[in-house]
Amino acid sequence: MPSAVVTGGAGFIGSTLTRLLLERGYSVRVYDDLSSGSREHLEGLDVELVVGDVRDIESLQRACDGIDAMFHLAAGAGVVDSIENPIENFDLNARGTLLALWAAKQAGVGRFVFSSSNAPLGDNAYPASEDKPVAPLSPYGAGKATGEAYCSAFFGAYGFEAVAVRFSNAYGPRSARKSNVIPLFIRKIMAGEPLTIYGDGTQTRDFVFVTDLANGLIRAAEKPELGGEIFQLASGVETGLNDLVAMLAEVSGRSPQLQHEPPRAGEIQRNYSLVDKARDRLGYAPQVPLAEGLARTWQWFQEG
Ligand SMILES: NC(=O)c1ccc[n+]([C@@H]2O[C@H](COP(=O)([O-])OP(=O)(O)OC[C@H]3O[C@@H](n4cnc5c(N)ncnc54)[C@H](O)[C@@H]3O)[C@@H](O)[C@H]2O)c1
Repeated sequence: MPSAVVTGGAGFIGSTLTRLLLERGYSVRVYDDLSSGSREHLEGLDVELVVGDVRDIESLQRACDGIDAMFHLAAGAGVVDSIENPIENFDLNARGTLLALWAAKQAGVGRFVFSSSNAPLGDNAYPASEDKPVAPLSPYGAGKATGEAYCSAFFGAYGFEAVAVRFSNAYGPRSARKSNVIPLFIRKIMAGEPLTIYGDGTQTRDFVFVTDLANGLIRAAEKPELGGEIFQLASGVETGLNDLVAMLAEVSGRSPQLQHEPPRAGEIQRNYSLVDKARDRLGYAPQVPLAEGLARTWQWFQEG
C-alpha cells in the first residue's frame, strides 16, 4: 500500500487531497498544527492526524518515517496577511518549506510535492505558464518562489525528487474559513449582504475545483522523473468577475446586491493559467466545469 504525509491536510485543499489519496488506496498521515485547518475536515476518514508545526523538524521527520510521498501544503495562505507580517510569512512559507524538504529527504521519502501558486509570477501571470520569469509582488509570492527554488536546489544538489505545482484560484467544499472570492461571495449571498466588486468587474481569474487540483497533485506524486519540475494546475479557463457573479446568482436562485469600490492597488487585472505542460507530462485533465463546481460548493455551504 503506498503511503503519504500531507502537511496542511486538515485544511481546505489538503482535506480533499486526503480523501482522494484514501480512495486511491494510500495510507495517509496528516501533519497539521490546526491553525487554520480543523479536525472536522477529516471526520470519518481512516487517517492518522499528527498535530505539529512544520517548523518542528524532528517531529516532522518522525512523521515521514516509512513514507513514499510528502505533499507539502501547510502554509500561511494569505497575500494580505503576508504584506502585514512579511517576516512571519517567510518563516512559515519559505523556511517552513526548506525544513519540510530536509525532513523528507533525511527520512528517505521518495517524492516531495510542493503547493505553490501563481503569486511568484506577479504581473507575468497573464497567462501563467512555467517558462515565465518570476517577479513576485507580495511577500507571499516571494515565499512561494523561494519554496520552488529550494525544490529545484534539492533535486540539483541531492537528486531529491521534489516537484512544485502552482495552483490558480481554488474553490470547493470545506472552504468556509477561506477569504477567496467564491467562498466569500457565497457567505455574503447566504447572509443577504451585498457583494463588493473592486473596479468594474471585468477583471478575470482562473477558478479551479478542488478535486481537479487534488487529482493533479496525485499525478505529480506518481509520474516518474519529475524532480526539479514546475507545473501549473488550474482550469485553464479565464472567467470574468461579473460572469462569476451571474453564475452564483443562477446557482443560488438569489439576486445579490452589488457594491462597487475603486480598484485595489496592486491587484492584477487579468489572470489565467496555461495547463499544457501538466496535460502532456502528468495526463492532467480538469473535469469539473465552473457551473457544476459552484453548484456543488453552494450545496456544501447549505448543508454546513
Ligand atoms: N486556496 C487557493 O486558492 C490556493 C491557491 C494557490 C496556492 N495555495 C496553496 O495551497 C496550500 C493549501 O491552501 P488552502 O487553501 O487549503 O489553505 P488552508 O489554510 O485551508 O490550509 C493550510 C493548512 O496548513 C495548516 N498549517 C498552517 N501553518 C502550519 C504549520 N506551521 N505547521 C503545520 N500546519 C500548518 C493549517 O492549519 C491548514 O490546515 C497552501 O500552501 C496555499 O498557499 C492555495
